[in-house]
Amino acid sequence: MNEITIKRPDDWHLHLRDGDILTAVLPFTAELYGRAIIMPNLKPPVTTVKVAAAYRQRILDCLPPDHGFEPLMTLYLTDNTEPSEIRLGKDEGIIRAVKLYPAGATTNSEFGVTSIKKTYRVLEIMQELDVPLSVHGEIHDPGVDIFEREAVFIDRELNPLRKNFPELGIILEHVSSKTGVDYVRSVDRYLGATITPHHMLINRSSIFAGGLNPHMYCLPVAKRESDRIAICEAAVSGDPRFFFGSDSAPHRVTDKEKTGGAAGIFNSPTALPYIAQKFEAEGALENLEAFMSLNGARFYGLPPNSDRISLKKVDAPVSVPEFIEVGPDRVNVFQTIEPLFWDVV
Ligand code: NCD
Ligand code: ZN
Repeated sequence: MNEITIKRPDDWHLHLRDGDILTAVLPFTAELYGRAIIMPNLKPPVTTVKVAAAYRQRILDCLPPDHGFEPLMTLYLTDNTEPSEIRLGKDEGIIRAVKLYPAGATTNSEFGVTSIKKTYRVLEIMQELDVPLSVHGEIHDPGVDIFEREAVFIDRELNPLRKNFPELGIILEHVSSKTGVDYVRSVDRYLGATITPHHMLINRSSIFAGGLNPHMYCLPVAKRESDRIAICEAAVSGDPRFFFGSDSAPHRVTDKEKTGGAAGIFNSPTALPYIAQKFEAEGALENLEAFMSLNGARFYGLPPNSDRISLKKVDAPVSVPEFIEVGPDRVNVFQTIEPLFWDVV
């Protein structure tokens, strides 16, 4: 199979930022995807419905008049989020999910949750109103090895949380370990997981191949080859609990290439062709549509997009730009050392 047509995909985990970065990166998503869940970790974070509505409008203002792209907004959960904010967001149709960042766990998470117990009143109303919780599933504990933080979070935080809120929809975002994949497989329909292209394509050795490469650094950090294989297997399996979320997270090159370089990989220009190539390699192209276009919509209770896009395998490697320009700065584009032979038609 050298060409495939699928329903238009959605991106269930996306960082668009604001200002000049937003303007520069949005076209790569809006041209291809029908909808995207927009992460709220701006500076300052999107903690109210009013701020989310204004951010949504800034995104829409960057789009051409004939666009068909719908940004789906999220709220950034803090220790002080009011349950009434969830009800308002649901009533106004603005808020599709609430994002839990353990305080300190990743980029712009310093206003995140210090103890999940503090958010129980909010989680109760979310469960009642059917608003899903999007989770950055890493423990923030300097005493826990960085490669173990997902597994320890599942054990210490996610599992008790699920027991206390058995009908709360939860998305384990950017699942990055075999432990995480196995956990999602072991439980019911209220738990799903997004999978990123980079966690399907790289492992922790990639961060050090040819010398330390900050452009392969994201959180959760890429793990062992056995973890990558488990993630890939879950993605290509067609299992409805696993769906695409790019976690495309642009940072200026100057913010990546320094001591204390930022975590995040900008992949929206290359995500879909790389994933098609991976599905082909695994002999699973027939499940590409489920992963990219059906499973996530179903989890969020939305219909799939009605139109379609096509991808094809080409003879000569597709040339991937090393970076895009953002004013005087650059943002590096995710690519692996393997040549890319798939392209969107
Ligand atoms: C994300 C970012 O830069 O906003 N970074 C990342 O490494 N994935 C935040 C996140 O999703 O953890
Ligand atoms: Zn993210």
